[in-house]
Parts: sequence; structure tokens; C-alpha cells
Amino acid sequence: GNCECREEVALAVRLALEAGRNMTRHLETRGTAHENPSDLDISTKSNPSDLATAIDVMNEDHIAREIGIRFPSHRIIGEESTGSGGIVDPIDPDGETTWIIDPIDGTTNFASGLPLCCVSIGVCVRGRPHAGVVYSPATDELYVAVRGMGAYRNGVRISGCAGDKAARTLSDSVVGFEFGYACAEEGGIDRMTNAVGRLLRHGVRATRSLGSGVLDLCYVASGRLDVVYSGLAEEGWKPWDYCAGLVVATEAGCTMTHLLPRSGGDFVDGGTGEIARGYEFNLLTKSVICGVNAELVEETRRVVLGM
Ligand code: IPD
Repeated sequence: GNCECREEVALAVRLALEAGRNMTRHLETRGTAHENPSDLDISTKSNPSDLATAIDVMNEDHIAREIGIRFPSHRIIGEESTGSGGIVDPIDPDGETTWIIDPIDGTTNFASGLPLCCVSIGVCVRGRPHAGVVYSPATDELYVAVRGMGAYRNGVRISGCAGDKAARTLSDSVVGFEFGYACAEEGGIDRMTNAVGRLLRHGVRATRSLGSGVLDLCYVASGRLDVVYSGLAEEGWKPWDYCAGLVVATEAGCTMTHLLPRSGGDFVDGGTGEIARGYEFNLLTKSVICGVNAELVEETRRVVLGM
């Protein structure tokens, strides 16, 4: 598409910065004499490790309200409001522009005072991710990407696959993964730990589990991580965990696709029979792999899945 979404992106930037500033006070005072842990009002959602804080809810209410005022016909999918009541189909090609919001990605980090957390706002046009805005308040980093127009961090163009990254192989890679919180699936814990075992036996530079799916993707886009995956057994990423990050990573030249390609057939792009990648990624699935080059993604997939 050729929509630049200028007004949507400008609004997303303002709202991400405002929501991020709302998080800063907590991050700055956490663990100091000023701290008042109860002011976070932490509650649990799907299971004891799935958290929401009062600030998640406050951020999402603010973002959704402001979008509703400026773009009353647009649809909004937010982690805290729509997350529990089922997901509106974001990939309807005839649907209205749809905003996909994670008011705090990395909520557990945030609640613990760990700085790896962010606000994520994705915009889907005609059923496809079109713009992504991510703000990390602790590092004061703002990522902005629009389809076909590149990815930027604090106004500077980023490319995850620049320089030697284009030829990066698994043995030289820093590999991120998310265990997530729902290991309820039959055999899920074994699948996850076996995959890490295979990576370590294969040999990698390092493994990392950062706790924010959106930042994982922004960091691949920045070349800080070489490859990340999620969705082996955990409940998996939801659209708000990767919609904005998908645009940032894809515009930075990275390859994002499904980790488990054949399951149910729905991960395969109907048009080409290929595994859907980039903007054709199936937004309703949970299994994700993203890396600085396509060969590294395939190599990692083979090792992780023991193929
Ligand atoms: C979570 C984080 C985590 C991922 C989970 C997500 P939240 O998002 O992105 O890294 O493994 O699947 O739900 O709940 O902190 O917004």
C-alpha cells in the first residue's frame, strides 16, 4: 500500500511518548525510599505470571480514548481491553484501519523495575501491518517505521542486516527467545528446554530472554540481537506483542516468519504456498522467528526444532 499514514503516525508517536512518561516515574522510584509498591495495583490475568498493572490500564485507556477522538471509525485492539475477550480479526482486508496496542510490553519487567519494557502501537491498513511506533522510556528510544519508508530509532535510520550481519550464522549469533508464562501445553516445558539445549550444543555466541517481545523485535531491527523466537510452547505472542515490531524489523531489512511453518496449514501464505513472512505474516498465530538474515532464520529454525 502507499498510505503514508502521516496523521496516524504523528498521533501514535505523541501517545507512545505520553504513555512512556507515565511509566518513567515508577521506573525511576522503584527500589528507592520513595517507592510505594502498592501504587502499582498489580493484578493477574490468565495465570499467576500474567500481570497487569494499574499503569497498563491507564496507558491503554488514554491511548484508546485519544485515537477514538481523532479517528472515530478506526478499530482498536488493546491488550488490556480486548485481550481477555477474544481478538477482533485484524487481517480483514476490507476492514477499517485497526490499531493494535500494547500499553506496556514487558509488564513483568516493568513491575519489577527492570528497564526492558515499552509502549507499542501498530497500525494495520486493509488487514496488513502498516506502521509501528515503539517507545522505551528507560532508554528514551523511539522506534518509528512505516511500510516502504524504512525504520528509524530516534530519527536515525536503522538496519538490522547491515554490514557483516547479512552473513551472520548461528554460531556467531546472540539468540533471544521468550519462555512466556503459559507452559500449560502438553510437553511444552520439554519442548522449550530441549530447544535451548540444542542451541547450546550447536554453539551460539549467547542466549538471552529479555521479557519483552516488542523490544526483541526492535533489537533485531537494530542489530543488537541476531535472531529471536517465541511460541514453541508458551501461550505465544499475541498481535500486540509483534504488530509494531514486525513493521520495525521488516523495514530494517530483517526476516520475520513463523517458527512452526506447517501446523494447520494456516501459516502458509495462500498466494504463493510459501511460508508467510514479513507483511504477509499471519497476525492470528503465535509462533514467531525473526532474524537479521533469511539464512540465519532457517538455520535457527532447524536447530530449535531439531530438524
Ligand atoms: C509479554 C512479553 C513476553 C512474551 C509474552 C508477552 P506483556 O507481553 O512480550 O516477552 O513472552 O508472550 O505476553 O504481557 O508484558 O505485554
